[in-house]
Amino acid sequence: MDEIRKGLAGVVVDTTAISKVDPESNSLLYRGYPVQELARACSFEEVAWLLWHGELPTPDELDRLRAAERAARALPQDVCAVVDALPLTAHPMDVIRTAVSVLGALDDLGDAPGADLERSVRLLGALPAVVARDQRRRRGLAPVAARADLDYAESFLHLTFGQVPPPEVVDAFRVSMVLYAEHSFNASTFTARVITSTLSDLHSAVVGAIGALKGPLHGGANEAVMATLEQIGTAARVDAWLDETLGARRKVMGFGHRVYRRGDSRVPTMKAALDDLVRWSGRDDLAQLYDALERGMVERTGILPNLDFPSGPAYHLMGFDTATFTPLFAASRVVGWTAHVIEQRAANSLIRPLSAYDGPAERHLAG
Ligand code: COA
Repeated sequence: MDEIRKGLAGVVVDTTAISKVDPESNSLLYRGYPVQELARACSFEEVAWLLWHGELPTPDELDRLRAAERAARALPQDVCAVVDALPLTAHPMDVIRTAVSVLGALDDLGDAPGADLERSVRLLGALPAVVARDQRRRRGLAPVAARADLDYAESFLHLTFGQVPPPEVVDAFRVSMVLYAEHSFNASTFTARVITSTLSDLHSAVVGAIGALKGPLHGGANEAVMATLEQIGTAARVDAWLDETLGARRKVMGFGHRVYRRGDSRVPTMKAALDDLVRWSGRDDLAQLYDALERGMVERTGILPNLDFPSGPAYHLMGFDTATFTPLFAASRVVGWTAHVIEQRAANSLIRPLSAYDGPAERHLAG
């Protein structure tokens, strides 16, 4: 029997020019640029252009992208109506998945060259408006009209909170968006590529990707991290909590990674952004709890934190509701997903692996 690689672990299924995850050098490159450099110096719009086109934008190209993204911030009325009609018991990931599905049903761009790129820019502009509208309705607040003078990160926060927070908050948010934008053939991106490989449409690929991202072993981990920190409560309780959790062989969310073995390359940059937020908010208690959990986990298991560990508490300090954290991840990762949809379509082969049958041997109906 052929070797079975459960979870496709270690299997190389295709090439990609979009990003390189290198566990040996503990690095992540977007189109050749270290993600830390991009997080230090670039707007989210510049990173989106880079991931889609392969090069950073010229000033003219950036102006064009900004104009198109800003134009897409006003949601179609049908999308607003569907979002507002969903029960508050629905998870915010269900809300954005449904909203993208409605956007797909309304799509009028056809098959012209460049249509998928235009769809991608429209999703870039629309998703923050959906995420913000949903968090606000859960708080009993009316939606905020988009301001065309704000950049992507400022606008996202303005749409959510009704005002632009101080620069340290905007910057931490921008950094998180840059770090989440792309990560090679992770589960949700691979889902998008599988759907694209059947020659299905871009919105269907993004809907599927959102479904894959929702799970706690993938994007849902940033929410689970916050729930863990709230459950533990204080740094003094970390040791007892870890003894119990690891003793029961339960996983600690926000730790471990399928590809990185020596630490997630994005963590130091996001941790620095979290430190800024702690200084800004004065929440030293949360920082102490964070440090104690990381120390205790590494001492006991040697398993290092992934990006969701610092981003969870960072989003909390910015003021987002915990259930909104994974939709924030999706709003950023939609850039990576759509870059992969376009790349897959340009050199497509139907993705259809084999399985080894281990059910009953052939048998027949009586009589
Ligand atoms: N907490 C406790 N133990 C963990 C762990 C964690 N977060 N991550 C891995 N382990 C342990 C497993 O229990 C397993 O131990 P065992 O060999 O004694 O059974 C071993 O490490 C290997 O874990 P496994 O889940 O098989 O590895 P993987 O490559 O499939 O795991 C993840 C990758 C991300 C699914 C896994 O680390 C995990 O579930 N992490 C928590 C969820 C999370 O943060 N996801 C976001 C990823 S960016």
